[in-house]
Amino acid sequence: YNAQLLGCDSIAILPEGMSSERFEWLKTVAGEVIGTPGTESNVKEIYDKVWELRKTRDNIMVFNQFEEFGNHLWHYEVTGHAMEEVLQQVCGEDGRYFGVVLTSGSGGTLASGDYLKGKYPGSKIGVGEALQCPTLLWNGFGAHRLEGIGDKHVPWIHNVKNTDMIIDIDDADSMAMIRLFNEPAGQEFLRKSGISETFMESLPLIGISGAANILMAIKMAKYYELSEQDVIMTVLTDSMEMYGSRVKEMEEEMGPYTEMDAAIDLHQHVFGVGVDYMQELSYYDRKRIHNLKYYTWVEQQGKTSEELNDQWYDYDAYWGSIHKMADAIDERIDEFNRLTGLLV
Ligand SMILES: Cc1ncc(COP(=O)(O)O)c(C=O)c1O
Repeated sequence: YNAQLLGCDSIAILPEGMSSERFEWLKTVAGEVIGTPGTESNVKEIYDKVWELRKTRDNIMVFNQFEEFGNHLWHYEVTGHAMEEVLQQVCGEDGRYFGVVLTSGSGGTLASGDYLKGKYPGSKIGVGEALQCPTLLWNGFGAHRLEGIGDKHVPWIHNVKNTDMIIDIDDADSMAMIRLFNEPAGQEFLRKSGISETFMESLPLIGISGAANILMAIKMAKYYELSEQDVIMTVLTDSMEMYGSRVKEMEEEMGPYTEMDAAIDLHQHVFGVGVDYMQELSYYDRKRIHNLKYYTWVEQQGKTSEELNDQWYDYDAYWGSIHKMADAIDERIDEFNRLTGLLV
């Protein structure tokens, strides 16, 4: 997208098992699309392809979302402030902001939690992943269906020392939720259960990982026995635009969807989620996750162990210097926009 704005050639690389809509959409924005072996969590294969391109093509500039601090900073500044505005409206007089829950893909969105923790000390940050690929929870691995998240490694830009809880989501729960929200029989059942028409219209805004985020919020609320005064923040990371084919695939696999299926899905997969597969993180639990970065980033991707140590031991200076960069970057964006004539 940015390359198109800047008039540069671009190459997008993603696992070939991602949804067909994603590939169709990318064809309209990227110059070249390369599918690498595997599904959602096969990111090592992407890194290998990137190293190959670096060696075989000229003038390659790599933007790796998992290591670009611009990604972290964007969510710290932009998503963080947007959430703060929403919280001010939602909490009102009696509401209490409790924390934010976010599944981690590149770990960028999690930075909004860092911003909010600065504003609301004592608030929590919960990170989510698929139970089928429990890297943070158990150093585990595996293929899963929560597209956009959970890639068998800890992103370089994830501020692990500031993360309070891991919440694993069974991908079957997310898939059941999007089926319930998008099949006509599911929608009919929800209407009969008293869901308002305005709310029904918003349901397609919830994609698979957005559904996982909502399930995380339910799990955190149950774990800490929260009340209606407590507010948990999350993000609907993308909409159903990319996943119509997934709903069709489920129909082919499991047969037509009925209101009976909808009732089961709502009570088993949404209301029924419990406090299992979660971990409240101690100092050394966090350190274990932080240390996992070594194997991807220092051993494979050329980072130094000194910088890895700085992320942990020189915490305030390291993360603080990133957060201070926003003003200087804004000035350069203004300068660029002036040069293009967009800004006068
Ligand atoms: C659909 C979807 N959900 C969730 C995420 C995770 O967000 P982040 O990369 O900021 O951790 C992504 C990231 O690309 C995504 O595409």
